Amino acid sequence: MKQQTLHLKAPDNWVNDPNGFIYYKGWYHLFYQYFPYGSRWGTMHWGHAVSRDLVTWEHRGIALYPSVREDQNGCFSGSAIEADGRLYLVYTGVRYEVVNPEDPHTCLDEKFESAQLMISSDDGFGFDNENGKTVIIPPIRNPEIGHRTHTRDPKIWRGKDAWYLILGSTVDEKYGEVLFYRSRDLYTWEYVNKAWKGEDYGWMWECPDYFEINGGGILMVSPMGLLQNGEKEKNQSICFAVQFEENSCRMEIPDQYQFADYGMDLYAPQTTVDAQGRRIMEAWIRMPQPTADGWIGMFSSPRVLELKDGHIYFHMHPNLRAAYGKEIPAASIAAAEGCMAVFELYDGEQANIGGFIICRKGNRIYTDRTAVYPGFDGAHLKSETPEIKDGFHLEVLVDQSLVEVYVNDGEYVISNAVYGLGSAIDFDRRDGMKLYTAGK
Ligand code: FRU
Repeated sequence: MKQQTLHLKAPDNWVNDPNGFIYYKGWYHLFYQYFPYGSRWGTMHWGHAVSRDLVTWEHRGIALYPSVREDQNGCFSGSAIEADGRLYLVYTGVRYEVVNPEDPHTCLDEKFESAQLMISSDDGFGFDNENGKTVIIPPIRNPEIGHRTHTRDPKIWRGKDAWYLILGSTVDEKYGEVLFYRSRDLYTWEYVNKAWKGEDYGWMWECPDYFEINGGGILMVSPMGLLQNGEKEKNQSICFAVQFEENSCRMEIPDQYQFADYGMDLYAPQTTVDAQGRRIMEAWIRMPQPTADGWIGMFSSPRVLELKDGHIYFHMHPNLRAAYGKEIPAASIAAAEGCMAVFELYDGEQANIGGFIICRKGNRIYTDRTAVYPGFDGAHLKSETPEIKDGFHLEVLVDQSLVEVYVNDGEYVISNAVYGLGSAIDFDRRDGMKLYTAGK
């Protein structure tokens, strides 16, 4: 089936969130939210891609599709876990109470309910959609616990002596919150506790993820309605350094957060552990419209998370750096595998990558995609990092639809979707700037 290198893209039609990201029996599996009938969001299926190395991906068709009452209108986001050699997927099943009379793929006035389901497989490739689904958490009827409609995106992890599950939800459609459940056997789940921040942190927290790196707890969530000034997309993904106590599932969330990415296109990230035990992340890169080939939606390059002096780094995965080891004198990004540009930026300098501008002013890196992005009246065109501490070494992954600017090996990353990027990288090249493509 269709292979893709560097960035995984929609095979056709529409994709959004990565789901069920896991290294299992020698393969990286990345499932994803997929609408197979058009280049727009609709009844959700889980598409499936696999990779041996996180660099080259192969699409494997549809893994999950609506087949029971609880998921009749969509298999929403979820996660994967391995237990006793089997692969378990947990996800949110959606049932519309009122279908939009003009479009069977959407519902009317947000009238739907959400349940959490599970399905398993012994090889990671075959899923019995007809007989293999179990409802593990029915729609929530108690408003003290959570929201009946907006509760979704289960992420499971193994704790010290039990399984834990975190769900995204909302307090009265005003504040985002997360719910914690515990299980001994993966089938019976008990609600234990919840955590939220209140005002200024969005009205609904989607795609929560909790994990530990370098001994510190991290909560990653995708709040809806986080940014209100109209210049950037409202829904963004953020991470907090938190304290989590397993027994009571009590989580203390500080006021400060970091964005997962400063391009503001990245959303719904999900982490897992790679073959070497590193905490790695994949995410959806939002796009405003389909490409000329008719597909819309793609995934970031895999990133390795590290917590250092209270700051979360998003390093480029070493497999990518190793795979993009062939130095070239000039890049033709028409090549499907794209390229990596490595250089330093001095204050006031800029690089032009086929129309995509990267520049440094003072201690920040800025990008401007005006020349390679459909018009938005000035909105969503420019991005910037916060003040940088570690230097100005840039590694930029480029293909025709996505530019990812890693600053200082992931002190910050700016990922920007682009359209019709020039067919050659047109750098105002300086000494010391290097270009690489796939190969040795
Ligand atoms: C995030 C999200 C999830 C949901 C899925 C539906 O982008 O809204 O909360 O499960 O997408 O496609």
